[in-house]
Amino acid sequence: MTETTDITIRHPDDWHLHLRDGDMLKAVLPFTARRFARAIVMPNLDPPVTTAAAAEAYRDRITAALPADASFTPLMTCYLTDDADAGDIVDGFATGIFTAVKLFPAGATTNSAYGVTDMGKVLGVLERMASAGMPLLVHGEATDPGVDVFDREAVFIDRTLAPLLDRLPGLKVVFEHITTSDAVDFVLSRGDNLAATVTVHHLTINRNALFEAGINPHMYCLPVAKREPHRLALRKAVTSGSVKFFLGTDSAPHALTAKEAACGCAGIFSAPAALEHYAQVFDEENALDHFEAFASLNGPKFYGLAPNEGQITLTKTAGTVPDNVAVKGGGAVKPFLAGQPLEWAVVD
Ligand code: DOR
Ligand code: ZN
Repeated sequence: MTETTDITIRHPDDWHLHLRDGDMLKAVLPFTARRFARAIVMPNLDPPVTTAAAAEAYRDRITAALPADASFTPLMTCYLTDDADAGDIVDGFATGIFTAVKLFPAGATTNSAYGVTDMGKVLGVLERMASAGMPLLVHGEATDPGVDVFDREAVFIDRTLAPLLDRLPGLKVVFEHITTSDAVDFVLSRGDNLAATVTVHHLTINRNALFEAGINPHMYCLPVAKREPHRLALRKAVTSGSVKFFLGTDSAPHALTAKEAACGCAGIFSAPAALEHYAQVFDEENALDHFEAFASLNGPKFYGLAPNEGQITLTKTAGTVPDNVAVKGGGAVKPFLAGQPLEWAVVD
């Protein structure tokens, strides 16, 4: 069999992305806009994006920060809080400002302090969303401090996600950035209204990466990477051709100084080479024939959107992940696998 050296697919989308704001937004956005036609933009700014008006203003700031030649559409999300305004949320969906709502259980991750403290408090909003066909995007980790950090996803399924889907069988849910075989099995066990995004870092590293030759803050994200059998289950799921899994980088930039600190924050900045790294995973699994479905077709299908019209070509050429990305004002942000070799490149 001859080796594949080029692959052309429909223009992909990133169904889970953190873009931040201000100078950081300007520094990181070009990497995504070069590779992806659309992205689901996470609302965990501080303060978070909780209203359609705030989402519209944030969307305009993103569009204004785009490079002149870019063609990229941000898809906005609403940060769910205990006192969310159901009317504003479903109206924002009807008018096209919101694409989805994001659930951060309070205390689960970066800027989640405003998040939901008790699912009972948002049931009314979720019922309205189910009727409107508006997707709920879930950070699926139990926040009970008694639960081991490596078990939080599995416990969330049992305590929160399964009961929620039983209660609202019509609600469309994306189980975001899944990290375990438990999540893969759960997603496969449920109907078409449940799907999952998978990051490239969870397909590439296991939890050893956090501790290799010392503590590695740039490998720290939430949900934290798990054991090797979980990584292998994720690779099997995304390359299987199942429509239930799609690309979501969860690229989450933090200033270098905030990562390399006594209490380094969670988040892996994968945008500079995410698509290239995903292509490598599919290549390693001999599954490049399923890459387009994962990157460009399954996501739009779940969201009820048309796939993009354009195409992108990747070629198998040696390259290097940038060491650092400069942020105006003197700061920098370090990409996932900074300075490491790359096997695939995007053709302009
Ligand atoms: O590692 C993470 N970083 N996980 C999240 O859920 C949030 C994200 C961020 O915003 O930095
Ligand atoms: Zn995220």
